[in-house]
Parts: sequence; C-alpha cells; structure tokens
Amino acid sequence: MPLDQQQWPNDLRAFWMPFTANRQFKKAPRLFVSADRMHYRTADGREVLDGTAGLWCCNAGHNRPKIVEAIQKQVAELDYAPAFQLSHPKAFELANRIIDIAPEGIEHVFYTNSGSESVDSALKIALAYHRARGEGQRTRLIGRERGYHGVNFGGISVGGIVNNRRVFGSLLNGVDHLRHTHLPEKNAFTKGRPQHGMELADDLERMVALHGPDTIAAVIVEPVAGSTGVLIPPIGYLERLRKICTKHGILLIFDEVITGFGRLGDAFAAIHFDVRPDMITCAKGLTNGIIPMGAVLTSAEVHDAFMSGPEHLIELFHGYTYSGNPVACAAGIATLETYREEGLFARARELAPYWEAAIHSLKDCPNVIDIRNTGLVGAVELEPLPDAPAKRAFDAFLMAYENGLLTRVTGDVIALSPPLIAERSHIDRITEILGDTLRRLG
Ligand SMILES: Cc1ncc(COP(=O)(O)O)c(C=O)c1O
Repeated sequence: MPLDQQQWPNDLRAFWMPFTANRQFKKAPRLFVSADRMHYRTADGREVLDGTAGLWCCNAGHNRPKIVEAIQKQVAELDYAPAFQLSHPKAFELANRIIDIAPEGIEHVFYTNSGSESVDSALKIALAYHRARGEGQRTRLIGRERGYHGVNFGGISVGGIVNNRRVFGSLLNGVDHLRHTHLPEKNAFTKGRPQHGMELADDLERMVALHGPDTIAAVIVEPVAGSTGVLIPPIGYLERLRKICTKHGILLIFDEVITGFGRLGDAFAAIHFDVRPDMITCAKGLTNGIIPMGAVLTSAEVHDAFMSGPEHLIELFHGYTYSGNPVACAAGIATLETYREEGLFARARELAPYWEAAIHSLKDCPNVIDIRNTGLVGAVELEPLPDAPAKRAFDAFLMAYENGLLTRVTGDVIALSPPLIAERSHIDRITEILGDTLRRLG
C-alpha cells in the first residue's frame, strides 16, 4: 500500500507505547494522521470509521470548529497561569458550567489532568474528609472486581483487573473488592440493564460486618464498567449500593470517566440511573479528549468539611501544576457548549434504541457468546480460543481496522462507543463491517 512518506516517522524504536503490544505494533504500525467528525484518516491514506470515540473520549466527534478555535484563541491569549494561590477566569467559568449539568447535590469541581488522577484525587479526598470530621479511623477503600480506575497506585489498588495489578507489588493496604456483576449464565444477550445481580451489592454489608462500618472510607465503582468489557449494572444494584453507603456513613464515588458527558444519554450516569454519589470522577469527554483534563466533582458536604480552620491556610494539600490549565478550560467550555448547542446528550438517548437493535443483530455471527448495550455503548463478547485467550478479539480488531472500522478490545470483548454525533448510517456501517469481520474470521 502506498505510504505517505511525509507523514511516516523515520524510526519507531524510541516511543514505548502505553497499553500496546509494542513489538506487534511496530511490525505493522497503525497510524492516524488526521480526523474529521466520524472518521480518522490513516498514514496509508484510508478512512477509518470511529466506532469508539477515540478512547471513549471524543463524544462530539473530531475536528469540531468551536473547540478548535477556542483552543487556538486561548493559547495566544493566556497560555498558562499558576494553579496554586492564583487562577484565571475560565477555571471558574468551566467549574460553574460543569455544576450546571451535574446531578443535584454535586456542587464543587477539583481539576486534574486525567481519569487516573481524578480517581487518586477522589480517594485522597475521601480519606481526608473523614479525618477532617474526626473519623480518621475510616481508612478502608472498597472497589470492585473487574473495575478499571486508571493506572495510578490508588486506582490499581481499588481496580480489579488482574493484569493491571499483579506485576506491581503489594499496592495500597486496606482495600477490599466487591464481586463483579457479570452473570452471563443468567443475563447473556440482555438488552439494557440485566435483571439478575442486584443482591451482589450486599457484598458491602458483608464487608461492613467483617471490618466494622466505622473503618470504611469509601466505595468506588464505575456505574457502567467500560474498560473491562462493558458490564451494565443490574436493575437495582446501584440503588442498593447507595442505600448501604448512606446507612453506614460511607462515601460513594462514581467513576464516570467513561459514562460522563452524554455516553448514556444524560450528562452523567448518576442522572441516568437516578442514584446520587458523593463524588464523581471524570475526564475524557470533558474536553472531547482533545486537551488532557479531568475533575473530581464533590457534594457540598464533602467540600465543606474542609472549610474550617484559619482562612490563610491551605485546606487540601493536593493539586497539580496543570490543574485548571487555561487551554484545557477553554477546550472544556467550548466542548460543553458544543454538547449543549447540538443537543448531543439527548441525541445519544434518541439513538440508543436503534443502536441496541443494530448491535444485537450480530447475535448469530460466529463465536458470539454475549452482546451487551446501554446508551451509545455496546459490547460483543467472543468465545475465547482454547489456547489463546484474547487473540480472537484482537484478530477481529485488526481485521476491522483493515476494513475501515475502529473498535476497542479487552480480553475477548469487542467494545463500541461511537461519537454522539453518529448518524444511523454510521451505526449501520459499524455493524456491517463488524459482522463481515466476524464471519470472515469464522
Ligand atoms: C472508569 C475509568 N476510570 C479511570 C480511567 C483512567 O483515565 P486516564 O486514562 O485518563 O488516566 C479510565 C480510562 O479509560 C476509565 O475508564
């Protein structure tokens, strides 16, 4: 295939790629050189339909003029302002705009630069919150099996994906995990929320009974687990978790790095499922994935617990050089405006039934053992090859890419999450290419 020589790097050795099979990649690189709306263009001159909004982040699609212009303007006007003891107007404006669309009761925004930083910040805030209230013995953190909360030490400690944990030593002490909610024998091929599994939330009661309620600081879960292969919460599960947390004074953190900003058809999963956490972690869609930025959103109660003591003293000894960076804030404001002006959250909601029907139409393709969906998220799970788990889905990813579709795989699950600007014709094309790929792989 003719390569665009100008775009092709002269040497691939130096860059150690994240979460990538580096040796496989460098033998047959997959390089994007431009993107517009629903499509990427590769270095070898092909169009690839974006079935995954980049990495679950470009919810408004690519190359959106309002966001591009806002970034260009901001960088020429105020490129950087110190984040500690100083700020700039757009940091406040963006925080207000986030709170305008956040669930009721969520009133404050603490900026980070990624989902991983949001998670570790939220865990630290939870620990410090209890200490500020005289309950410093609440140090235990609870995550869930198969949870993904980024790659920092807090996040992999509460996370539950074995490969992300096992080679990194002993991690944080005092962490427990709820069981995951994936029950394929009962829930396979469910459309939307599964019927079975609500009672798994009672694992938290068992932990309370085991450790004592006054030792537990926080529970963190993804409302819809994304990176582990799209696990939709069983009906009643999140509600029950909320109830148990409230009963025992435990903070509930929703990790909405994927579900935030419209993926399920509402601004946040907390709104979609009508369950109110004490904190929300977010990133990705906050700036349409363009400038690195994340945030921890907190209730007034969490924030206010810190606002005592002499006024000249710092209340929370935590923050990043780039917290609330002006260019990131400009990107965030323009992104939220784009979502609002184009009604993209409502659009995702309206498209969801079409999406559901389309993705479940792949049921009879070879080796498909489950299909799951909610909002504009879907997953097709394949029977693993007996001697090579994860290979079948990886082969499907490679072939779909060659056929012009970007998917995301984790284990033997193919995950899909198109930008919220997708047309029905794009959805048709996604299922057409994926169906063809699965049939050819056989
Ligand atoms: C739920 C969740 N939390 C945290 C993260 C980590 O985000 P980042 O890669 O921006 O650090 C991710 C990334 O996919 C995620 O899905």
